[in-house]
Amino acid sequence: MAIRNLRYEGDEILKKKSREVEIIDEKIQTLIDDMIETMHKYNGVGLAAVQVGILKRIVVIDLYDDKGPIVLINPVMIKTKGEQEVEEGCLSFPNQFAKIKRPAEVVAEYTDRKGNRVRVKAKELLAQAISHELDHLEGELFIDKIIPGTLEYIEQENEN
Ligand code: NI
Repeated sequence: MAIRNLRYEGDEILKKKSREVEIIDEKIQTLIDDMIETMHKYNGVGLAAVQVGILKRIVVIDLYDDKGPIVLINPVMIKTKGEQEVEEGCLSFPNQFAKIKRPAEVVAEYTDRKGNRVRVKAKELLAQAISHELDHLEGELFIDKIIPGTLEYIEQENEN
């Protein structure tokens, strides 16, 4: 496993649309392992492949609960419901946080790393993370959706 280089604000790749994964081969499994390691290194809750420079529809999410990291390949948003106003950041925008409106509940479908198509129903932080990460696959960034005037710069200690 290896830490991959993150792509940051201003990198044009972040605005590109990611492509479907056709075969979950060894290269994809390695990418997934690296994405999880990279997300953990930077204390992130989620990471999309485009953020490490790979335009593939792969997302990893970890809420640091007993579920462990979730891997979503070719995820599709099936349904969104309601609205929650939340504080949000992104590993591609270090130290920047803002308020944003996300769906209160989402239903998404994705392929897991074993190749099973699964459906997840989520609320609160998981709904927010799924919404944020699926946006990345379309080249959409949270910074373009924030509630005006709520952007803050907060330096964070990184113990890693
Ligand atoms: Ni992000």
